[in-house]
Amino acid sequence: MMLPIPSRLPIVQRTSTEGLIDLAWGHPDPALLPVEALRRASAAALDHYGSAALEYGSSAGPGPLLEWLIDGISALEDRTPRSDQIAITGGNSQALDQVLHLVTTPGDVVLVEAPTYHLALRILRSHHLTLMAIPTDRDGLQVDALRDTLHTLRQSGTPARALYTIPTYHNPTGSTLSDDRRQALVELAAAENLLILEDDVYRELAYDAPAPPSLWSIAPAGVVARMGSFSKSLAPGLRLGYLTADSDLVQRCAVNEVTGSGGGINHFTALVVAMVCTSGDFNAITAAFRAEYCARRNALIGALRASLPPDYTIQTPGGGFFVWVTLPEHVQAAALLDHAREQGMSFTPGSRFTLDGSGDNALRLAFSLYPATMLVEAARRLGDAVRSMA
Ligand SMILES: Cc1ncc(COP(=O)(O)O)c(C=O)c1O
Repeated sequence: MMLPIPSRLPIVQRTSTEGLIDLAWGHPDPALLPVEALRRASAAALDHYGSAALEYGSSAGPGPLLEWLIDGISALEDRTPRSDQIAITGGNSQALDQVLHLVTTPGDVVLVEAPTYHLALRILRSHHLTLMAIPTDRDGLQVDALRDTLHTLRQSGTPARALYTIPTYHNPTGSTLSDDRRQALVELAAAENLLILEDDVYRELAYDAPAPPSLWSIAPAGVVARMGSFSKSLAPGLRLGYLTADSDLVQRCAVNEVTGSGGGINHFTALVVAMVCTSGDFNAITAAFRAEYCARRNALIGALRASLPPDYTIQTPGGGFFVWVTLPEHVQAAALLDHAREQGMSFTPGSRFTLDGSGDNALRLAFSLYPATMLVEAARRLGDAVRSMA
């Protein structure tokens, strides 16, 4: 085996602090990442495709992965993307940035959920949009509130261009948009000419029941651009995902100046992932992830119930990586965070997930990075922090 190459510069994004159980990181546990399957798949891709794995790739992504995705989507959802309605992306963050680049101009009104994924907010902000928040509750986006906002915007002559939403196993709240609201949302968007940017990154991590149908699968053509990712179902370092949308948008994402010069995004990685998928490893890996992360969720929820006072509301997610805790009126997450750090645990305060910094009466706990024993210990420390504030 080759020795690791020494480097003075970092290899990964995540940092850690000695003694701190940091439930702020919504990253997969490195110990669970499928190193052996990726090693096999890399070798298989080179054996099978030879130098074609190393050429500039086909602009929408390599056929074997697109075909596996088309077959898989059509088996799981009531809609089959045509081959011109799907393209490989560099993951959801890259896809969101690219779609915004293609469909918005600075100043356009784009709607987001409150709360929403804080790092997507940064991407959205970088496009100089007019961002407005729509409230959510345990059943996800409040579609009635969206309807009212769309109406007001239309009357004031500034109709909303798009809505960024995470309807399935939300980050940060873990909530899932109810079936009724899914239907109402796509109908409303179709009537209002609103493009839905559906972030579908946690679909494969469903713990209690199969994931609900994507908005893309139930919407009229052209209403939804759905961004899927291999970051949570395989590994984030792959930087790979896919987009399903109407063919005009997909083709503009796939066939452009960048792919004209550089070929399809992450071509070799996409062929490696195609090998993981077609060998059956993908299904085995995601099944193992579901079992392990479900056990972690249960351990954290159980320990929080035992450690936190009854006026702390704990929301159990049906999938994904996050538990959302709503605090009693008099407690602010930012203040609790100082006490939690003193006790040796950390979390993300709710105010990080809103446009205006409101929402500090809630916090997000990620249960993805640590094994169950550490999650139980983190919950115990959080309970101590709560008591130390009193
Ligand atoms: C809701 C959501 N969207 C997107 C991402 C990032 O996706 P990708 O790694 O595919 O860019 C994350 C990662 O935490 C996320 O939680």
